[in-house]
Amino acid sequence: MPGSLVLIGGDPGIGKSTLLLQIVNQLSQRQCVLYVCAEESGQQVKLRAQRLGVQPAGVLNHDSSGAGESAAENPDLYLLPETDLETILQELDSLKPQVAVIDSIQALYFSSLTSSPGSVAQVRECTSALMRLAKQENIMLFIVGHVTKEGAIAGPKVLEHLVDTVLYFEGERFANHRLLRSVKNRFGATHELGVFEMMDRGLREVPNPSELFLGDRDEVAPGTATIVACEGTRPIVVELQALVSPTSYSSPRRSTTGLEYNRLLQILAVLEKRLGIPLSKLDAYVASSGGLNVAEPAADLGVAIAVAASFRDRLVDPLTVIIGEVGLGGQVRSVSQMELRLKEALKLGFKKAIVPKGQSFPDLDIEIIPVSRVADAIVAAL
Ligand code: TYD
Ligand code: MG
Repeated sequence: MPGSLVLIGGDPGIGKSTLLLQIVNQLSQRQCVLYVCAEESGQQVKLRAQRLGVQPAGVLNHDSSGAGESAAENPDLYLLPETDLETILQELDSLKPQVAVIDSIQALYFSSLTSSPGSVAQVRECTSALMRLAKQENIMLFIVGHVTKEGAIAGPKVLEHLVDTVLYFEGERFANHRLLRSVKNRFGATHELGVFEMMDRGLREVPNPSELFLGDRDEVAPGTATIVACEGTRPIVVELQALVSPTSYSSPRRSTTGLEYNRLLQILAVLEKRLGIPLSKLDAYVASSGGLNVAEPAADLGVAIAVAASFRDRLVDPLTVIIGEVGLGGQVRSVSQMELRLKEALKLGFKKAIVPKGQSFPDLDIEIIPVSRVADAIVAAL
């Protein structure tokens, strides 16, 4: 949207600059784009651009010789290596691009403020000034913000309410895969998800994201089940692994990684009592992939199925997600935010979902298997 502000947040090194260079490469085929590279020199950005097959028209505000810049394939893409807010505003005002990128907001400074670049005051002031100009000149503005540990440096959170759209680029859990997630969008849907893979020549779209989850599973082990956890309003697909084996101790060992220990004990008791799995003679280990913390009741049913699968040495269909809380009587209970969880699973290419019976949610293009008891869920999954 012309005149709109899009914030792209993410951990340092996740690929925000790469993503934006690829985006402006496409946009500059039809529109004039100014890319403010406040973190790197013009030369560094040009090298990266070359690697991505992007050829900017030139580097502004730079006494360059201009050599080799005649063959630019992106004649309407300009790089501006600059951190001073006022200079950037001047360049924006004189070039009047249709699209501008600020990479990153934490590197800018406004000389009238005494605080250092990256402080809350600097980040707010710079964003407001850029926003005023963008609205006035109808410039579509992308702002990159590093997600930072709480501390001296202000992260994207302080800007979320100012901007029109907030996107987060994430992927620490997926090796080379990256997720682009919309968490706020004044002009469209939120909770959209783009899936990419970081290659040696930039990011590639992953059109069929289920490969992301199947790819890691060259050796699918019995005892693996996939759940959709929720962190606030952010759904996360997580693989759980369980291992049960005959104990050599007087009392069997139990261990959890990323899950609540007491809930595991409850689930094991339910499986023993309601399904007759002799768990009091078995050690049981359950872990979430990457040790991701998924201490919430909605993970219960996935834990139960992973344990049962390990005990029976059976595989759970890798394209099925399992969502539900387990009661002490062996019943499967409803969970919060079911729609959000199912949509996430659907977008990531999952085909089936085992969910609590009676829980309502809109029709989605994913096969739903409603279950009222843990025993039914295990029959459906194994
Ligand atoms: P970058 O876009 O600089 O991250 P950010 O701007 O979020 O800090 O990406 C950094 C990482 O991406 C770096 O470790 C190198 C890697 N990378 C590739 O693997 N392939 C590529 O084509 C490019 C440009 C970067
Ligand atoms: Mg960067």
